[in-house]
Amino acid sequence: MRVGLKSGLTAVAGLLLIPGFAAAQTPAARQVTFTKDVAPIFQQKCQDCHRPGAMAPMSLVSYQDARPWARSIKTKVANREMPPFHIDRTVGIQEFKNNPSLSAGEIDTIVKWVDAGAPQGNPADMPPARKFGDPNSWTIGEPDIVVKFPKYLVPAESPDLYGDLFADIPIDSDRYIKAIQTRSATAESHKVVHHALSYSVSPDAIQGDMSNEGGQFLVEYASGKNAEVYPEGSGVLLKAGEKARVSYHTHSYGEDTQMEIELGMVLYPKGYVPKKIRWSKQLAQPTTPLDIPPGQVARSDGYVMMHKPARIIAFQPHLHLLGTKQCLELIYPTEGASAKTEVVNCVNFNNSWHLSYNYADDVQPIVPAGTMLHNIQWHDNTAANPRASDPRNWVGNGNRTVDEMGFFWLGWVEITEEEYQAELAARKARQSRTTTQQQQQQQQQ
Ligand code: HEC
Repeated sequence: MRVGLKSGLTAVAGLLLIPGFAAAQTPAARQVTFTKDVAPIFQQKCQDCHRPGAMAPMSLVSYQDARPWARSIKTKVANREMPPFHIDRTVGIQEFKNNPSLSAGEIDTIVKWVDAGAPQGNPADMPPARKFGDPNSWTIGEPDIVVKFPKYLVPAESPDLYGDLFADIPIDSDRYIKAIQTRSATAESHKVVHHALSYSVSPDAIQGDMSNEGGQFLVEYASGKNAEVYPEGSGVLLKAGEKARVSYHTHSYGEDTQMEIELGMVLYPKGYVPKKIRWSKQLAQPTTPLDIPPGQVARSDGYVMMHKPARIIAFQPHLHLLGTKQCLELIYPTEGASAKTEVVNCVNFNNSWHLSYNYADDVQPIVPAGTMLHNIQWHDNTAANPRASDPRNWVGNGNRTVDEMGFFWLGWVEITEEEYQAELAARKARQSRTTTQQQQQQQQQ
């Protein structure tokens, strides 16, 4: 039985009689203040980006910094737009690595603070300031090698630019990548890079025709991207003697800017061959070219078949300004009429945030050979979408930021049929243990 509202209230009333309880009062019972309640949350969950010199447009360090933004903070936090992690919480898997989200209690505290008029509180309650390293530091840890691409001037005013830059990879024998991250070396550079795809290519290929597929794909970067985490014991091969290639797309913003892209890599030790190769590919383009009429919300669907059993590690939607939602569904291979489907996740998409959602180990979707991945996505070309530049125009596929795209990046490792069956059995056993525990708890209540 659930604890009823009435018995809950009696319990609180009882506690109030205990002397000294006032000191441990929850924020609910007294006024929520910036210094006591809100500043610790901002330190932990916002200031990585919201502090002088970091990526966000304003600082949330002092009360004076934060106060003017109170209304906007309430909206962004209550809608779970900030901190950026835009997974739909009503459906699918909810356990991720590196999930920066606020807890329901933290959101409640911030909302109460704003509703109370955003009071400062006692300055003596302010926690000691957090210490920060370099705002541009690597999130993968200290890389073993850093590939620096040549600087490139993006003019103050220009159409979107595309091209390739090349650099040496400082290794003398084949190595496997354990973790990789693209970054813009400076805050200015950060503003102009729309995306940057990195490859390793044979030096001969550099003179030839570089189609988008040239070379071995290494890592994707787009504005707002976080780092990708490979599962322990899996990696991506980096061949000695190859060159790094970055295929870039820039977007001018009114000032001449030096674009500087760097690729940091953590490598496995020399001679180490990981058990699994970690694949990352853009998949499930819509079956017909995007067709987004003026003033309408358009849905489109794409499919891709997994030919071998797999463990899915990461999911990252890629759409542009009109993209508002994308879902990943599994259509399992089943005999007869009873097709089984399952929604893995939906993401509320925002083009400023190309986030990779890395599943926690225990919940990484495992799929049998023949599973169809189904991409379901929506582009909103109405005035209701603040990112729609001109909803009177038809929009279709294209490379520019104002054109559209719609696919997802999938990270996965192949597994054998035996590994698939073993993991499936282990998960079923865990599931039935949890169910039994829940039933026992319910009986006891
Ligand atoms: C990963 C970096 C990052 C984190 C963490 C983060 N923000 Fe942001 N925030 C940004 C960036 C970049 C923008 C501007 C682009 C945008 O709005 O998406 C922004 C925009 C905002 C805005 C909108 C400002 C406006 O123009 O109205 C608010 C409010 C905000 N953040 C509050 C917060 C709060 C509160 C937290 C913590 C609970 C937080 N953010 C955590 C990077 C971040």
